[in-house]
Amino acid sequence: MSVKTEVRPVPFDISRIRQDFPILAQKAYPGVSLVYLDSTATSQKPMQVIEAMDRFYQQSNANIHRGIHKLAEEATAAYEAARLKIARFIGVDNPREIIFTRNTTEAINLVAYSWGRIQLSTGDLVLLTEMEHHSNIVPWQILAQERGIRLEYISVTPDGLLDQESYIYFLQQNPKLVAFTHMSNVLGTINPVKQMVEAAHRAGALVLIDAAQSVPHLPVDVRDLGADFLAFSGHKMCGPTGIGILYGRQKLLEQMPPFLGGGDMIRKVQLSGYLPNELPYKFEAGTPAIAEAIGLGAAVDYLSALGMENIQAHEHEIITYAIERLEEVPGIHLIGPSADQKGGVASFAFDGVHPHDVAQVLDRFGIAVRAGHHCAMPLHEKFRLPATTRASFYLYNTFQEVDALIEGLYKVKSIFG
Ligand code: ALA
Repeated sequence: MSVKTEVRPVPFDISRIRQDFPILAQKAYPGVSLVYLDSTATSQKPMQVIEAMDRFYQQSNANIHRGIHKLAEEATAAYEAARLKIARFIGVDNPREIIFTRNTTEAINLVAYSWGRIQLSTGDLVLLTEMEHHSNIVPWQILAQERGIRLEYISVTPDGLLDQESYIYFLQQNPKLVAFTHMSNVLGTINPVKQMVEAAHRAGALVLIDAAQSVPHLPVDVRDLGADFLAFSGHKMCGPTGIGILYGRQKLLEQMPPFLGGGDMIRKVQLSGYLPNELPYKFEAGTPAIAEAIGLGAAVDYLSALGMENIQAHEHEIITYAIERLEEVPGIHLIGPSADQKGGVASFAFDGVHPHDVAQVLDRFGIAVRAGHHCAMPLHEKFRLPATTRASFYLYNTFQEVDALIEGLYKVKSIFG
C-alpha cells in the first residue's frame, strides 16, 4: 500500500471548507469519524444554505405571487432572485426558461408528459442510452406504452463510454428526441454533450440533458452545450431536497401544455375553461417549495464563490488518487472509464463479497458508501453485475478519506477472506 496524500495539490482550503458543513465534524459512531462518500446520492449542506432557509422562515415566510403585504413581497422577491441566480449559474439569460420542479425526475417527467404527449405519436423514435438513471428511462417507457413511440438505446462500451458509432447509427433513423445523461451516476463518465447535441440537431432531433450529476460538479453552460431541455436537482449540489430545475427553450415551453393544473399556473379560470399563465408560472402549479428555492439560490452562491472550475479540479485529483488506490486492492473490479474521462464516482465489484456486505462493514468504520443498482438496473445488467459498491466524492472530501476507504476495504477482505 502506498499512501501519497501529502503531495497532492488542492485548489482550495479543504479544512476551511469542511467547517461550513457541520455534519462532517460529527462522529458516525462513538469514537468513529464520519467519512461521507455518498454525495452522488445526496450532498451535504453548508451552513450558508441552512441559514438562508432558516432566515426565510424566521423573517420572511409568506406565500408568493399572491399577497400584497410586505412579507409576501419579500418572499416573492427572494424566490424570484433565486431563479435569476440559478439561470446565471447555468448560463441562461432568460429566467422564464427556468422552471422550478421537485427534482430531476419531475423535470424529465414534465418534458415526457407535456412535450412528449403533444409532439410524439406512434412509431416516433426517442433515443436514450444504456447508462441512464431510471428517471430518464421510465417516463419514456410509460409514454411508449401509452403512445406506441419507439425507444432505442445508444450502447455503452466495455470501458463505460457511450459508443459513438451506435449513436450515429441511431441518428440515421431520425429520432425526434435524444435524451441522455451528462455524467453517469454509476460510471462517472462525462459524455461529450456539445458534440452529441450538434449531431442530434443536424439530424433534426431535440436534446434533453440529464444534468443531475454534472451541474453540481463541473461548470455547465447551457448556451454553450446547445441543449433544448436540461434537468437537475438541488440536493446534489449543496442545496435542499424537494427542489429541482427544468431549463427549456422558451419557444418549446410556450408550445407545451401545462403539466399540473391548479393555482398560480393560470391567467384566468371560468367554469367553461382556463387560460394558462405565462412562463415560467405555467409549469409551477400550487404553492411551490419556496424556502427550498431560496436554499438552492444560496447553494449556487456557495458553489460560485468556490468556483466550479476549482471544484472540478479538486474532484479530479481525488478520483485520480482513489482509482490508483482502489486498483491496489486485490479482488476489486472498477467499472467505468479512466479518471480523465469521468467525475468523482468509483463503482466496483469485490470478488466474493456482496456490495451490501461491503457497505455494511465500511459503515462500522464510519464510511458511508452506497450499494445496489443505483437506479441504473439496465447498466448493471450490461456489465453482468446485480449490484456494485459506489464511493462518490465532492468538494469537501479529502485524500485522507480515500485512505480510510482503502483501509476499510482491506478490513472487508480480511473478514470475508
Ligand atoms: N440518483 C441518486 C444516486 O445515484 C439517488 O444515488
